[in-house]
Amino acid sequence: MDNKTNIVLIGPMGSGKTSIGRSLASKLNRDFFDSDFEIASKAGVDINHIFDVEGEEGFRNRETQKLKKLCKMSNIVIATGGGIVLRKENRELLSDSFVIYLSSNIKELVKRVASSKTRPLLQRSTDKEKTITDLLKKREHLYKKTADLIIENNENNYHITVNKIIQSISK
Ligand code: S3P
Repeated sequence: MDNKTNIVLIGPMGSGKTSIGRSLASKLNRDFFDSDFEIASKAGVDINHIFDVEGEEGFRNRETQKLKKLCKMSNIVIATGGGIVLRKENRELLSDSFVIYLSSNIKELVKRVASSKTRPLLQRSTDKEKTITDLLKKREHLYKKTADLIIENNENNYHITVNKIIQSISK
């Protein structure tokens, strides 16, 4: 991990960033932050509401502001939103952190987000599998180029993935 002290999880919706990040932070005895949660609690409304009122652009501005603040901290674990890699500015901010791309197959991603009501990009979709496949096609190269480490998370039990991460970073 060299001199990078923060660990940041990136990946598509349903890749397990929040559950894995929280568990990883607890095992490493670090503080955990979920950028979507932080954005929503600062705004006092949920992410769907921010998209409705300010559009995706408004949400992305808030996301960049939040990422800037989080990246100023040290020794923390951060779970990001699936679109964090879209802006070059965000990718540059992430270059000071140890970034882990949680990669999962489409079938698993779709299964995990099937009943989600909190994701505006899926709310209006009549075909979640197609939406996720299209988003991944556009974003996967960005996840890969931003990551220091790629970990597959196709497990039902996220503790297995957390242990894989801990093994990889302590090598
Ligand atoms: C988004 C993913 C969401 C959230 C917002 C936009 C995206 O986060 O940031 O709905 O663009 O993929 P999760 O990846 O935690 O679902």
